[in-house]
Amino acid sequence: MNLLHAKNLSHTFEYKLFEDVSLELNEQDSIAIIGISGSGKSTLLHILSTLLKPDYGELVLFGKETSKLSKKDLVKIKRDDLGLVFQSHYLFKGFSAYENLEVAAMLSHQDIEEALLNRLGIYECIHQKVTELSGGQQQRVSIARVLTKKPRIIFADEPTGNLDKKTASEVMNLFFEYVEKNNAGLILVTHDEALAYECKKVFRFENKELVRVK
Ligand SMILES: Nc1ncnc2c1ncn2[C@@H]1O[C@H](COP(=O)(O)OP(=O)(O)O)[C@@H](O)[C@H]1O
Ligand SMILES: [Mg+2]
Repeated sequence: MNLLHAKNLSHTFEYKLFEDVSLELNEQDSIAIIGISGSGKSTLLHILSTLLKPDYGELVLFGKETSKLSKKDLVKIKRDDLGLVFQSHYLFKGFSAYENLEVAAMLSHQDIEEALLNRLGIYECIHQKVTELSGGQQQRVSIARVLTKKPRIIFADEPTGNLDKKTASEVMNLFFEYVEKNNAGLILVTHDEALAYECKKVFRFENKELVRVK
């Protein structure tokens, strides 16, 4: 089944970033987007995850044209079905890591899975305050928080940027397993080509176009 279909997206800030970008994400798909810094990767991810409206083009999520949805329906889709793992991880700073997960679990009526905490190597530090954790630990807590809500699409912008190679590869395996098991999809932005090519499909920004390279 199709989860996301982007049709002919264009976007301009001070100058034209990209034009005529089309992309399809199906269940159990993983897509990587690569390209040099400033080519528009993060902007495209913001558009695909409904944070930003494209200047031109259509975004269809779960079969629904998003520009035709009410604000309320869009909020609901975003809350229940989209998982955003971005560079600044927006954890609640005054709370413990566990309390951050509890909020996500409560909002989405899901349980916090102990196995997930173990897989991410944050079981030991889960009751510490967010501010006491290292950048890498915070990043893994934010990944745990996103997976706890059981999204149908995960959008990840350099999700392993703060992690060492071994931890990064464990996190990626976790994403891939999640996508397989839950009939979900993953769209990953990275500058790490090796990592990108672990995804089923790879696209690269070249001359303001998005070109499929795998
Ligand atoms: N909200 C914004 N307003 C104006 N310019 C922006 C905005 N967001 C990004 N840009 C510009 O768009 C270009 C692409 O940014 P970005 O999508 O973050 O690229 P990438 O993630 O590939 O490095 C950059 O030149 C950036 O300065
Ligand atoms: Mg970026």
